[in-house]
Amino acid sequence: MNRRSFLLAGAAMLSPLRPAAAQQPGHSMHGMSGMDMGGGHVPAAIPALPEGAFLPDLPRLANRSQQAGVFEAELTAAPASASFVPGLATPILAYNGIAPGPVIEVFEGDRVSITFRNRLPDQESTIHWHGLPVPADQDGNPKSPVRAGDERTYSFELPIGSAGTYWYHPHPHGKTASQVYRGLAGAFVVKATDDPIPATYGDTLLVFTDLRLAPVGTMPESTMADLMNGRVGDHVLVNGQKNPVLTVAQGELRRLRLLNATNARFLRLSLAGANITLIGSDGGLLETPVADVDELFLAPAERLEIVARFDRPGTVSLRTLAYDRGWMGPNRPDEAGMDLLTVRVTEGLASSQPSLPGRLRPIRDLGQPAVTRRFVFTETMSMSAGGMEMGFLINGAAFDMNRVDVASKAGQVELWEIANQADMDHPFHLHGTQFQIVERESEGRVTKPAFRALKDTVNVRRGETVRILLRQDLPGPRMYHCHILEHEDLGMMGLVNVEA
Ligand code: C2O
Ligand code: CU
Ligand code: CU
Repeated sequence: MNRRSFLLAGAAMLSPLRPAAAQQPGHSMHGMSGMDMGGGHVPAAIPALPEGAFLPDLPRLANRSQQAGVFEAELTAAPASASFVPGLATPILAYNGIAPGPVIEVFEGDRVSITFRNRLPDQESTIHWHGLPVPADQDGNPKSPVRAGDERTYSFELPIGSAGTYWYHPHPHGKTASQVYRGLAGAFVVKATDDPIPATYGDTLLVFTDLRLAPVGTMPESTMADLMNGRVGDHVLVNGQKNPVLTVAQGELRRLRLLNATNARFLRLSLAGANITLIGSDGGLLETPVADVDELFLAPAERLEIVARFDRPGTVSLRTLAYDRGWMGPNRPDEAGMDLLTVRVTEGLASSQPSLPGRLRPIRDLGQPAVTRRFVFTETMSMSAGGMEMGFLINGAAFDMNRVDVASKAGQVELWEIANQADMDHPFHLHGTQFQIVERESEGRVTKPAFRALKDTVNVRRGETVRILLRQDLPGPRMYHCHILEHEDLGMMGLVNVEA
């Protein structure tokens, strides 16, 4: 066994699982385990979804512009109907009628202009361009909601060097989670003008979403358990299908982009029987490929790019592995052993392909930080007249969009220390820029990443501290938050104002 175990989230997985952090006196969360948290969607009633269809290629958003270097399109968010189970209609929310939404595919250097029409009944929304370096007033953050019935155009230019796998989703404060699990999310791929990955590898996008269906085919409202843990569905879909089939030739090299677009599901995946090379993370390609990876990890909102080779004919499954993300209360879902995608490897060697270059691109060294900031994630629980109340806090406060939590300066290199003193993992996300992980600390042990990567989301395990280095180049207000969307809605978010 000379393959190395790999986790983009870092070497934290190598340390023994940490017991839950000490409880605050009077706020026992474990006291809840005996209570009915209302998490009981009865497993026997889960409708079965058809499996084994060919992996659908997600439709691309059509470019209305004829001009070179310009991408112009429209996205309308509206109620729609989907048929996950034959004979059952499921009311969903969709961009241009489909969920996941159409894939936006542009080139770095392009000028993008997308008109968003909010046709959601009675709900504000926005489109947030997750991970992309767009101006603060085009970022679709909760400070600029689009009211029901209204529209607005988002315009931005994507700089050279921004090629990568991103996504878009709503970001209205307090409503993000329900709009996303009902179907509003899509991939945003920025292609490089000079791509070092051979074109013969193809470019296959795998968008993971999560679905829970009631026996009648509707999506049940979220329960208390969903609000606490983040909503985890009963089915994981890839490009909208349960366990679809991808066919490849024996020995063929394939480029795959993985996007975790679920509200709250941590994906620890194996593809036993395939040879995997990691080539990219949230913000695009790594400096050099990382060969012989045997495990992939995507916290909610994370992306990975890999090159996979399948040497033996037959079938190979992309399967979930157990991962303990700290579950509150009963009904912890059994997330291991699910086949998310079946790869059918046909017999007969593939025609020869160019090999992967040894160097992909340089990632700049940000240098020494001018300031260090600390962000502490905590959970609180209290009893109120309305029942139990959970608080999800950063530095002791819940989000207030009229409060500036941090004043920063454009162009300034900063070290951010994110300390998770809560009982669950919280994937940290920052708007406006890509950061680099400096180190992770858990139980006094410090681990440095094995390679440099651009990230906009990083899982911070319970009890862990992650240090990141970043620089915001564009002025304006930016959000940082936990990307378990229910936690974000409940206030685990802050605002950094970047001064010019
Ligand atoms: Cu993907 Cu502030 O979010
Ligand atoms: Cu974002
Ligand atoms: Cu969280």
